[in-house]
Amino acid sequence: NGRRLPLIAGNWKMNLDHLQAVALVQKLHWALKDAKHEAGTVELAVFPPFTDIRTVQTLLDADKIPFSLGAQDLSAHDSGAYTGEVSGQFLAKLDCRYVIIGHSERRAYHHESDEVVAAKVQAALRHGLVPVICVGETAEDLEEHGASAVPVRQLTAALNGVAAGADIVVAYEPVWAIGSGQAATPEQAQDVCAKLREVTAAAIGGDAADRTRILYGGSVKSGNIAGFMREPDVDGALVGGASLVVDEFAAIVRYQK
Ligand code: G3P
Repeated sequence: NGRRLPLIAGNWKMNLDHLQAVALVQKLHWALKDAKHEAGTVELAVFPPFTDIRTVQTLLDADKIPFSLGAQDLSAHDSGAYTGEVSGQFLAKLDCRYVIIGHSERRAYHHESDEVVAAKVQAALRHGLVPVICVGETAEDLEEHGASAVPVRQLTAALNGVAAGADIVVAYEPVWAIGSGQAATPEQAQDVCAKLREVTAAAIGGDAADRTRILYGGSVKSGNIAGFMREPDVDGALVGGASLVVDEFAAIVRYQK
């Protein structure tokens, strides 16, 4: 889609310490030296653990590496007595452009409700961060309600109170496809992503929805990325496991339609 710059995002999850992060970013940059992201035709973003972010920021800056940087979570609060939490203002100071919100692992293991996710989206926007809002159905949801009902509910709730024209990214990650090796088909992804674009349009307006990147995530590999990228409402990928393997992630970034 010519209106939207494709976004290939690597969610490292709880992998790589700050020294390993340096090695991966340097190797990835080397592997992609002549690639199209350098020419501005695809955006590459990395989402390291909090403890790596300062180091990765320094490296990207020093070596003029054109990757975007993001965090995997943030606090719904801005500062104060919230032991262990990380404020969006700290992330913004570290040149983070993005922050993942509502990943299914946080919804499942940290009991993040739709309300918490919505509060975090507000926190991100307050600090000028682009929220990467994750939604997706479990295998049981899929069986009971079909693919789109839960993602539509989750995104509607997350966008509650978001102003028209806001800069957001949406990631459709079916829970059954995450880390399972069993990706959705491009048609399944397109079907849900198209519905999520309608939800986005209703919440923040048609023009903003037209500009919004909607990503697919869940067992994305170099061998299946092109199929997803051919779909009109899939504007990129949120990649987990494969983002930790230099050649594999580089091949995903270099996808050809
Ligand atoms: O956020 C990305 C992730 O949940 C997908 O993980 O390992 O299936 O690519 P993976």
